[in-house]
Amino acid sequence: MALFKIERTSSPTPAEARRRLLGLPGFGQVFTDHMALISYSDDQGWHDAKITARRPFQVDPASPVFHYGQEIFEGLKAYHHAPREGEKGVALFRPDANARRFKASARRLAMPELPEELFLQALEELLKVEKDWIPEGEGHSLYLRPFMISDGAFLGVKPANNYVFCVLASPAGSYFSKGAVSVWVSENYTRAAPGGTGEAKCGGNYAGSLVAQQEAKRQGCDQVLFLDSANRRYVEEMGGMNVMFVHRDGHVSTPPLNGTILRGITRDSLLRLGREMGIEMREEPVDIEEVFAGARSGEIVEAFACGTAAALSPIGSFRRPGGEVKFGDGNTPGPVTLKLREKLTGLQRGRYPDPFGWVQPVALD
Ligand code: PLP
Ligand code: COI
Repeated sequence: MALFKIERTSSPTPAEARRRLLGLPGFGQVFTDHMALISYSDDQGWHDAKITARRPFQVDPASPVFHYGQEIFEGLKAYHHAPREGEKGVALFRPDANARRFKASARRLAMPELPEELFLQALEELLKVEKDWIPEGEGHSLYLRPFMISDGAFLGVKPANNYVFCVLASPAGSYFSKGAVSVWVSENYTRAAPGGTGEAKCGGNYAGSLVAQQEAKRQGCDQVLFLDSANRRYVEEMGGMNVMFVHRDGHVSTPPLNGTILRGITRDSLLRLGREMGIEMREEPVDIEEVFAGARSGEIVEAFACGTAAALSPIGSFRRPGGEVKFGDGNTPGPVTLKLREKLTGLQRGRYPDPFGWVQPVALD
């Protein structure tokens, strides 16, 4: 296994300033002092693993990442975890699943696959150096953003020979500040098509979603929901979250993994946790017409978005050209959403047992 060189910054953030930043971190705006870096070249393979001061990259303007978007990323959280009275530690939630998805994204983008052990080691080594940056408090965590870019200097359309893997750490509070989010159903834009990159976590998917998100904002909504590209009829996912629906008879439905949506780790965890709790969890096509009709008739009683950054975020309303449906007053989470959220976040924080072995304590010394 690679040895990480530890190069500590000569100008760390003073403790008082760090405490201030940790008080109100928001999402993705505050960064810690260090980052993890690993280089790759076709000749040397993965090499030069280190934890070093966070600073701008020096990348050639002809690097393919700027021209053809050969980039992938992940997102996961480190948080304080108290499995037993008086016991305190730091844990990651299913980091092995992120490591595997990162490899799958790399394959789709013709990038080298970072071995899972190296991915996990980079997270741990960074956490050891940045342990004072993990915020306390329910809902607060240190968000980790592993990513990989292609490097080099050429304009031919082909995979690069050099890559940089990096992990940033960013103290995070809640992703959304509201009780429930309003969602715009995009009829003009789709996110992914069969055979495309929808299942990969690559930057280009998000670049393509921004105009739809702008449209949602113009329509007075917080988030956008994408439909399938072939029929513009079946629900796929949101810009950065999967989506689930709670039905009157208590079952929960979510679109199946068909190659165009992200294989969400929160989605998978909820499917398994919900079943454990006795909820019927179905993966089945969700027709947007049935969502609107169901919300009106009472067949669908709740909806929520799920993902690492947002955890479980209640959806208060769906809007599209010519119509809107609301759940309750449009701003109050439903009981099944709350129950699932409590179980998932409680398991992550050590309030409930973890029969799945998902919570991975991190040794920080
Ligand atoms: N869908 C998209 C497009 C995402 O960006 C994310 C966030 O990572 C998710 C779904 C949820 O995935 P996960 O639960 O693994 O964070
Ligand atoms: C995450 O939930 O980790 C994401 O990557 C979603 C978003 C912030 C892009």
